[in-house]
Amino acid sequence: MRAAVLEDFGEPLVVQEVELRDPRAGEVLVRLEACGVCHTDMYTASGVDPSGYAPTVLGHEGAGVVERVGEDVTSLSEGDHVVTLFSPQCGECVHCVDPRTNLCMAIRAEQNLGHLPDGTTRLKRPGDGGADIRHFMGTSTFAEYTVMPEIALAKVDPEAPLDRACLFACGLSTGLGAAMNTAQVDAGSTCVVFGAGMVGLGAVAGCRLQGAERIICVDLSDDRLELARGQGATDLMKADDNPESLVERLVEMTGGGYGADYTFEATGNVKVMAQAVEAARMAWGLCTVAGVAGKGETLDVIPRWLITGRRVAGSSFGGVKGREGVPKLVDLYMQGEIDVDPFISHRITLDEVNRGFELMEAQDGIRSVIEFSR
Ligand SMILES: NC(=O)c1ccc[n+]([C@@H]2O[C@H](COP(=O)([O-])OP(=O)(O)OC[C@H]3O[C@@H](n4cnc5c(N)ncnc54)[C@H](O)[C@@H]3O)[C@@H](O)[C@H]2O)c1
Ligand SMILES: [Zn+2]
Ligand SMILES: [Zn+2]
Repeated sequence: MRAAVLEDFGEPLVVQEVELRDPRAGEVLVRLEACGVCHTDMYTASGVDPSGYAPTVLGHEGAGVVERVGEDVTSLSEGDHVVTLFSPQCGECVHCVDPRTNLCMAIRAEQNLGHLPDGTTRLKRPGDGGADIRHFMGTSTFAEYTVMPEIALAKVDPEAPLDRACLFACGLSTGLGAAMNTAQVDAGSTCVVFGAGMVGLGAVAGCRLQGAERIICVDLSDDRLELARGQGATDLMKADDNPESLVERLVEMTGGGYGADYTFEATGNVKVMAQAVEAARMAWGLCTVAGVAGKGETLDVIPRWLITGRRVAGSSFGGVKGREGVPKLVDLYMQGEIDVDPFISHRITLDEVNRGFELMEAQDGIRSVIEFSR
């Protein structure tokens, strides 16, 4: 098959022939139809990610069709439409059986090493004796096919277009889930969302679906703020207009001058995380942090902000238990409740994957989607 390989950090990905071994027990062969290009792929490709490794096949926002299943696979069969999950759901571990979290522990250690759960890889260089290539995030979806564990595939409505469904594999579900699962925004409440990328826009949509009365979105870009309006933001604020008084103004605007019931951080900037804590309402405001900060960075919060009732929660993949939650979010999209099309700014081929990175670096649009049939 053809796949985009990260050969060396800081170098463009190299699209080339790669061999994919057959699925083993508990594994599934998926033919990919579409895959989003995300910051996490670029972050690893750049070499800045301390846990990154090469060579590997990047990509984690995949959607496709089950081609074949290995032994003991019971919940999926040939022809099923699936979204790939970097955050699996085994259904049995200490976290999967608890409704409070989505942090499945079943295959974490091996996944972080670039292996499938049995400690080996299905990816290799072509030919006899070709060296192994490691998987990335347990997904490696910048490729025509992938082999993944059954527990890391969400079966979705076969009517859902896969070029849209793939966005639910990462940022969109993260934002929606931050509002719907982690914060569980109440109807009639006031929300502030910092950042209007894929995650922040998803959070705006999640707040709207929960029935929030007021949704203030803060970003640096006018274009992105307009997208936030399309997702249901009622107020837009430019982050760089008088940044010193930004929090003060937000607090004044909300909760009768006490701050917002819910705030969301979706920028990855620790200074913005602090703003999100400070803009949360005294007494019960909840700040949900979804952004991933740089290595070694810390969140600076005056403890009095917490004593006086503000709370801080982190959210990984929006707290969404993937196999159950992603199909439900895709159903909401199919019912017309989530407007996904504005997120797709560019459609590219696998060979153009590096252009996807360039577009992202230039903040040109929200998502480039690789279409494998192009
Ligand atoms: N928690 C998770 O599971 C998870 C999953 C996916 C992504 N993420 C993280 O979420 C964050 C957002 O991801 P994304 O794909 O939406 O990124 P993105 O870069 O597309 O969006 C970030 C947005 O923040 C805005 N921004 C930058 N500085 C700002 C400031 N000072 N004030 C207000 N807005 C500002 C940018 O203009 C941009 O629109 C990243 O840190 C990413 O790593 C987390
Ligand atoms: Zn992603
Ligand atoms: Zn589990």
